Amino acid sequence: MRIGIPAETRPGETRVAATPETVKKLAAKHQLLVQSGAGLQASITDEAYVAAGATIVSAQEAFGADIVLKVRAPNDAERAQIKSGTVVIGMLNPFDADNTGLMAQAGLTAFALEAAPRITRAQSMDVLSSQANIAGYKAVMMAANTYQRFMPMLMTAAGTVKAARVLIMGVGVAGLQAIATAKRLGAVIEASDVRPPVKEQVESLGAKFIDVPYLTDEEKEIAQGVGGYARPMPAEWMKRQAELVHERAKLADIIITTALIPGRKAPVLISEETVKAMKPGSVIVDLAAEQGGNCPLTEVGKTVTKHGVHIIGEPNLACLVAADASALYARNVLDFLKLVIDKEEKLVIDREDEIIKATLIAYGGEVLRK
Ligand code: NAI
Repeated sequence: MRIGIPAETRPGETRVAATPETVKKLAAKHQLLVQSGAGLQASITDEAYVAAGATIVSAQEAFGADIVLKVRAPNDAERAQIKSGTVVIGMLNPFDADNTGLMAQAGLTAFALEAAPRITRAQSMDVLSSQANIAGYKAVMMAANTYQRFMPMLMTAAGTVKAARVLIMGVGVAGLQAIATAKRLGAVIEASDVRPPVKEQVESLGAKFIDVPYLTDEEKEIAQGVGGYARPMPAEWMKRQAELVHERAKLADIIITTALIPGRKAPVLISEETVKAMKPGSVIVDLAAEQGGNCPLTEVGKTVTKHGVHIIGEPNLACLVAADASALYARNVLDFLKLVIDKEEKLVIDREDEIIKATLIAYGGEVLRK
C-alpha cells in the first residue's frame, strides 16, 4: 500500500505523523511517500526519511496515497487533494461536526485518534495521553522560565531562598506530568481535581491534594466521570472548590491549569478575583487556553500580565517539543495502523472492533460520530 505523510500546514503545527523510526518499520511492506520538508520543524531531514526507506514526494503525491497519516485534520485545500476512498488517520477533532461532514462528503475513511477509548489495548495509540504528557512537562518549563525566582529551596551564603509553591488544577495526564516535573525542580506542590481516584495519584507523587468534599450523592456520582473523563460538576461543588482554590492561589507562586471536559468549554477555575488576590510576579499557565481557558483572563497564544500576574495562554505546548511529540505521536499512529492493516498487508476495517468503532468518524460518505 502507498502511505502518504504530508507536511502539516496549520499555523504553529510543528509535528509530523511519521518519523524515520516508524517509516523504517513500515517501509519493508509498503511504499512510504513523505512530502519534502514534512519533518523539518521536528528536526527530521528528508535524508533521514530516505535512509529509513521513504521516497520524498510533492504534497500532491503524499495526499494521493491509499493511507494518509496526518497530525491535524485536513483543511479545505488539503482535503481537495485527497481522493475518495482514502484512509486518513490523525487528530481529526471528532467534535468538529462541520469538518467531519466535509470529510464524509469527500468520501474519506477518517479515523480520529483522540476518540480512542481509554482501554488497556488502546493505550499504545492514545494520542491524547502522549501529547498531554509533553504539554504537562513543557508547562512547568515555561512557568519556570517566566517566574522570577528559584523553584527549589536553596541555602546560600547570602541567605535562604524559599521553594516555589505550585498549584496544579486538573490532574489528568498533563497534570500528573506537571506535578512530577515541578517536583524534580524542587517545588512544593498542591493539586485539585474532581475525580476521587486522583487523590491517591497526587499523594504518591509527593504533592498535597486539595480535598473538596462531595456533599450529595449526585456530586459523588458526577465526580466519578465517564470513561476516565470528567463531567461538569454541579454549581454548588464548583463554588466550594473556587473558595478553597482562592485561598490556596493566594499562597501559590505558579498555577498550572489543565482541566478539560471533552467536547465542552473548559471549566473556569481561576476567576479574575482570584488572580487579583495572587502575589505579584506569580505565573499562571493555562493549558485549556484553546478550549476557552480555565482562567477568563487567558488570551490564546499570548503571555499577558494582569493584576501583576503573568498568564501564559500557549495553545499547543506539545508543538514546542516537536521532536519528541512527533516521535511519540508517530508511534501511536504506527500502533493504530496495525489495527487496520492485516497480515497480508491489506486494509481491513473491522467495524465490530471497539477501537475502530470509536475512532471511525467518516466512512462511505457517512458521518459516524458527531
Ligand atoms: P482531560 O485532559 O480530559 O482533563 C484533565 C483533568 O481535568 C482531568 O483529570 C479532569 O478530571 C480534570 N477536571 C475536569 N474538570 C475539573 C474541575 N472542574 N476541577 C478540577 N479538575 C477538573 O483528562 P486526561 O488527562 O485525558 O485524563 C483523564 C483520565 O484518564 C486520567 O485519570 C488518566 O489517568 C486516565 N487515562 C486512562 C487511560 C487508560 O486506562 N488506558 C489512558 C489515558 C488516560
